[in-house]
Amino acid sequence: MKTAVRYYTRSGNTKKLAEAAASALSVRADDVSVPLFEKTDILFLCCSYYAFDIDEAVKRFIKENKDNIKKIVCIGSSAMMKSMKKPVRRASEGIPVADEEFHCRGAFGSIHKNRPDENDLLAVRDFVKGIFE
Ligand SMILES: Cc1cc2nc3c(=O)[nH]c(=O)nc-3n(C[C@H](O)[C@H](O)[C@H](O)COP(=O)(O)O)c2cc1C
Repeated sequence: MKTAVRYYTRSGNTKKLAEAAASALSVRADDVSVPLFEKTDILFLCCSYYAFDIDEAVKRFIKENKDNIKKIVCIGSSAMMKSMKKPVRRASEGIPVADEEFHCRGAFGSIHKNRPDENDLLAVRDFVKGIFE
């Protein structure tokens, strides 16, 4: 089964989650400027909220790579939301977005300092491994 990890980050929180997930899968975590070069069974799409939505770069990545994505699993962090599925499904171009996802708090200004932390990184590793059980 072919898996890939892509992320979009502004302050590094999502990159940390993406790299932890990728290490558990023994693949690289690349940012969304790197296209998917082959058909991917599960894309772990790591992104966060900015003004209640995902960044345009994430939407563009999905659009430009849709023919190579069979299924999306969301990984993300935010200051106050609980899920990335709504905005990702809106942008998903008809690609199935799994009900299972990983979401945790992400540092934003003076709140949620140091999140994602070591516990979050352990939890995201467990989450991606659990997808295949
Ligand atoms: C400009 C901006 C807007 C944000 N808007 C939201 C928001 O609408 N809802 C929310 O829960 N978090 C919001 N956040 C918090 C981020 O989602 C959170 O800090 C996330 O962990 C950032 O990940 P990153 O470091 O990978 O960019 C916002 C952060 C920034 C910088």
